[in-house]
Amino acid sequence: MIVKSLKIKDYRNFNDVDIELHPVLNIFMGNNGQGKTNLLESIYLSSIGRTFRLNSENELIKFNENISKIEVSAIKNNQNIKIRLLLEKSKKKQVLINGVKLDKTSEMIGILNNVIFTPDDLKIIKGSPIERRKFINIDISQVKPKYKYLLNNYKKITTARNNILKNYYTNKQNKDIINIWNDYLINIGTDLIWYRNEYINNLKKYAVGIYSDLSGNKEIFDLSYSCNIGNITNMDKNGIKELFKDKLNTNIDHEIQKKTTLYGPHKDDIIIKINNKECKYFASQGQQRSAILALKLSEIEIIKEEIGEYPILLLDDVLSELDNNRKGYLINYIKGIQTVITTTDDNDLKNLTQNYDKKLYYINDGKIGNITN
Ligand SMILES: Nc1ncnc2c1ncn2[C@@H]1O[C@H](COP(=O)(O)OP(=O)(O)OP(=O)(O)O)[C@@H](O)[C@H]1O
Ligand SMILES: [Mg+2]
Repeated sequence: MIVKSLKIKDYRNFNDVDIELHPVLNIFMGNNGQGKTNLLESIYLSSIGRTFRLNSENELIKFNENISKIEVSAIKNNQNIKIRLLLEKSKKKQVLINGVKLDKTSEMIGILNNVIFTPDDLKIIKGSPIERRKFINIDISQVKPKYKYLLNNYKKITTARNNILKNYYTNKQNKDIINIWNDYLINIGTDLIWYRNEYINNLKKYAVGIYSDLSGNKEIFDLSYSCNIGNITNMDKNGIKELFKDKLNTNIDHEIQKKTTLYGPHKDDIIIKINNKECKYFASQGQQRSAILALKLSEIEIIKEEIGEYPILLLDDVLSELDNNRKGYLINYIKGIQTVITTTDDNDLKNLTQNYDKKLYYINDGKIGNITN
């Protein structure tokens, strides 16, 4: 999969951008605050439909403007795809794929596949379980369209079930009603757990080897699924459903007291370990970054396995944080994967990619220019 060109109008600090991307390596250099992350964000937005940063949609529109436009031309499975996004202040964003307007933005996930790695991704390790669930939810949604549909339904079910739990004793019928919601929760929840378990096993399959290479075979990486309803190892779907049912039946009083759904995949976590110690508490900064890098590179491989093509790789200023061996490993790994890298340190990356066919650009105050190699 390749992004051929990117056009941006009044997005963040960009006024008018129209660039052709190199099919393999694109390096954007620039000082702090010039628009490097904004540029990657515009590609990410064309893939996932929302930003990876903590902004509302209105904040993405250039200050003092009302409309932002992003247009990406890409090739996937030898077919041309044109993705257009229109952001208008206080209105619902519009997404058009080859001229056809989507009903829901989430339908665009999986069309232009991407893997992004930003310094902020350390929160996948250090942050709360919400961050790790967000990480796998986006990942799985990119390769399994049914997953995002299940996830949406699951959210609606937990909201409805929580409403019953909040007012449980106000209506005698709630005892029967909760059983109906339990069935929905168990059925859809089990499907989600199934997808997650499979995905995490798949991630682990790749990440263990990648991390070992990254650390010069010195450290052992491990990844496991911590399923909130209990240990599901070696269980089939029916086994998981029984476990889930049991959990809900045993804990209904507790849930009524807490007025919320306490059991199910919305409370899951992923445990990431290096040398058998949990990364969150024991890994050094460099080890945490390497662990994320191993996960991201594994994600690339899973996308390739699922859809037959590599995704677009977006690397936001992450090289400067890796030691020379790891940098070298990463640069070598991305051969053949279209990559967009941003950096403030031009010499470092230039040296590392000396023999690579590539495009170099600079970004200065929202203006992008070519640098001849
Ligand atoms: N809606 C907006 N309209 C105009 N400018 C914006 C908007 N949102 C953010 N900016 C500006 O965009 C600028 C560049 O942001 P960006 O995060 O892309 O910088 P960067 O080049 O990645 O910098 P760093 O190297 O520090 O990460 C910031 O100065 C910010 O004020
Ligand atoms: Mg930045």
